[in-house]
Amino acid sequence: MHLSVLWLSALFSLGASQTFSKCDPTIKSCPPNPGLPYRDYQINFSYGLDHLNWEHFAAGGYNYSHAGAGLTISKSGQSPTLQTKWYIFFGLIEVHLRAAPGQGIVSCIVLESDDGDEIDFEWLGGEPQRLQTNYFGKRNTTTWDRGRFSHVDDTQYVTHSYAIDWNQDSITWYVDWQPVRTLRFHEAVDGTNFPQTPARLRLGIWSGGDPKNPEGTISWSGGRTDYSKGPYTMYVERVRIVNYNPATSYVWGDKSGSWQSIQQVHGNRRVVRDMETQARILDSQADQSGQQSFVRAPGRRRAQAAARPEPSYRHMSGDGEASIH
Ligand SMILES: *[C@@H]1O[C@H](CO)[C@@H](O)[C@H](O)[C@H]1NC(C)=O
Ligand SMILES: *[C@@H]1O[C@H](CO)[C@@H](O)[C@H](O)[C@H]1NC(C)=O
Ligand SMILES: *[C@@H]1O[C@H](CO)[C@@H](O)[C@H](O)[C@H]1NC(C)=O
Repeated sequence: MHLSVLWLSALFSLGASQTFSKCDPTIKSCPPNPGLPYRDYQINFSYGLDHLNWEHFAAGGYNYSHAGAGLTISKSGQSPTLQTKWYIFFGLIEVHLRAAPGQGIVSCIVLESDDGDEIDFEWLGGEPQRLQTNYFGKRNTTTWDRGRFSHVDDTQYVTHSYAIDWNQDSITWYVDWQPVRTLRFHEAVDGTNFPQTPARLRLGIWSGGDPKNPEGTISWSGGRTDYSKGPYTMYVERVRIVNYNPATSYVWGDKSGSWQSIQQVHGNRRVVRDMETQARILDSQADQSGQQSFVRAPGRRRAQAAARPEPSYRHMSGDGEASIH
């Protein structure tokens, strides 16, 4: 199912449309996308939302606790969502989360570009042992055969690590650093439908099973949502984002939507400094809490050591100073 289509229609009906880019750079000329200007960004949501780098939108609220950011649906019409203010251009994202329970409730991680390139993880509240991976290129929805399912234990009670390594040759989805799927460039309609343009990360939940939705959406999401059994909460503990092509902005050089057409602009040092300051604050908070290295969740080290991907720094630009530990 094309997540964006459903999700956006839910959001549009809530008046949240202004937060989405209406400018498709493959159709007309659009302003550049703001970029994450350095390679490595991480956040532990237990400390709260980092407003410099994230925005919260759509009805429904969020809370912070030791469990991270809780995104909650307690009644019809809510779909709380967190979104990065900037885009990355190929990269590695890792999100530690617990999906929301509740029939018809959809939890998701989405990387999405302004031209409709999209890479997803999604969970249905009625299927706690399963996740779906999906992708779309240039909003192409002529067929519905891109989704794949994977078994995962207890997605609603156990915080797992979900990661996407996205480079210009392939996309690999990981669960606890075990690869569950790889898509190669040529497999996506000879590359033309391979996601390859600057993308933002969005984390959120929405109610596919809302009785106001079309029957098709309700049945796709596992049935009607019963709000009296809620509230339904998805917890995002922490996020790491590596931008393989850090830049202060990305200019769409033409309307092809190909990665070769994207120009990287480096400048605006002030923004970079602000973000570095923010990163240092987060680091020192992390140090105080006495935690270990960021991606090493307790009990998951063995799997990581076996299967952690090599970041694709060799692609495109590459001063390669960062690495995934
Ligand atoms: C995130 O912060 C919370 C609160 O200090 C802490 O309990 C937790 O261990 C941290 N998690 C990670 C992985 O840094
Ligand atoms: C946040 O937590 C408080 C206290 O537990 C609760 O009353 C409130 O409804 C929560 N808000 C959201 C949006 O979950
Ligand atoms: C859309 O996807 C279909 C099925 O994969 C493919 O045959 C078609 O060429 C694609 N269309 C475009 C415009 O990329």
